[in-house]
Amino acid sequence: MKALSAVVLAAAVLMSGSALASADLAKKNGCVACHDAAVKKIGPTWKDIAAKNKADKDAEKTLVAAIAKGGKDKYGKIPMPPQPKAAGDAAALAKWIMTH
Ligand code: HEC
Repeated sequence: MKALSAVVLAAAVLMSGSALASADLAKKNGCVACHDAAVKKIGPTWKDIAAKNKADKDAEKTLVAAIAKGGKDKYGKIPMPPQPKAAGDAAALAKWIMTH
């Protein structure tokens, strides 16, 4: 019984650890200046992005391209500036955004 709860606890810690890691990537790369999970800032919320792209079966690729190149007119008048510094983290960020 003790061993089982230790396993459950370890899994819970691992899972929350990975969620935090991606939120940390968004912080580290400055995304949070313009994006939030639920509050609209300069850019659309992570939830809006996930909703808008969920019909796209290549959504993660679409988002990786948007992070690298930027873009505009999908949500509003302000363009998304290219985020070249996030290149190494773009795939993880795209995956994480689509979980919202
Ligand atoms: C200076 C503000 C700003 C920063 C910093 C910023 N974004 Fe954006 N982002 C925007 C705006 C504005 C849009 C909406 C553009 C539009 O109308 O299509 C957007 C759109 C997006 C989209 C949607 C693309 C799509 O095709 O649906 C993704 C994904 C995204 N941002 C991810 C990120 C990530 C990840 C970072 C950090 C590496 C980041 N953004 C940093 C302003 C920003």
